[in-house]
Amino acid sequence: MYVNITKQDGYAIAQLNRPEVLNALNIQLMTELVDTLESLDKDSDVRCIILTGNEKAFAAGADIKEMADASAIEMLTRDQFARWDRIRRIKKPLIAAVSGFALGGGCELMMSCDMVIASETAKFGQPEINIGVMPGAGGTQRLTRAVGKVKSMEMVLTGRMISADEALRWGLINKVVPVEYYLEEAKSWAKEIASKPPVAVKLAKEAVLKSFDTTIEGGLEFERKNFYLLFASEDQKEGMKAFAEKRKPEWKGK
Ligand code: CAA
Repeated sequence: MYVNITKQDGYAIAQLNRPEVLNALNIQLMTELVDTLESLDKDSDVRCIILTGNEKAFAAGADIKEMADASAIEMLTRDQFARWDRIRRIKKPLIAAVSGFALGGGCELMMSCDMVIASETAKFGQPEINIGVMPGAGGTQRLTRAVGKVKSMEMVLTGRMISADEALRWGLINKVVPVEYYLEEAKSWAKEIASKPPVAVKLAKEAVLKSFDTTIEGGLEFERKNFYLLFASEDQKEGMKAFAEKRKPEWKGK
């Protein structure tokens, strides 16, 4: 098994488990990961998902040895990165807890998550240029949206790694903590999100992601409809009633 799962306090942790190659993302690992995320997405006990690696590596990229001899047509027909689109469709919040290397596909996988907590030892990069290729799992698009054109060009064209502090300043990640705390910090964010009304969390995530592929006009319309839709939920009635009654709301997830 290349992905370990644990569940607690309303959230799940999916841990990449191929440490001997710094969690290089081969087809088997990605297949297991995507299947796992989809099943957690359907699991009503889980309201938030943490994706993590180990202290040395979140993931050092796609498995170079697996791809090395492939022809263009093999790459096209195996459509290696198609399963990544399924990660984009996960409805529950995904938090990446990153320590060590997040390179190439590893950095792209992290950017597919909704929030990122990193250890001080984390290193981010898109080093594909150094092995004769370029990012292929969303790097040129998600990185540019996250850090802007010139910094994205810097990372993609030089292949240079950036530190956790730089990544924080550039807006690529949410928070940096000492290495012994990165998973604990991610757990505390997951626990907090798991305590929120699930339908509102789901529709809010969907609306934020919508902003990446629509006009402001279309996005505002989408947001408004999701907002109105929440008035059909019992949790909206409960949340607003509890506020007026100065008590803690009890969410039903409907
Ligand atoms: N694919 C396959 N194997 C990998 C790997 C990868 N991406 N990254 C590391 N490994 C393997 C190494 O080959 C090595 O295996 P062996 O012990 O069998 O030799 C093992 O993991 C440990 O790695 P190193 O000995 O190299 O460890 P290090 O600490 O000296 O260096 C590193 C760490 C700088 C991350 C280095 O391993 C490295 O440069 N890795 C490749 C990073 C990279 O280029 N990633 C992009 C891949 S392409 C991609 O991701 C395309 C895309 O857009 C999806």
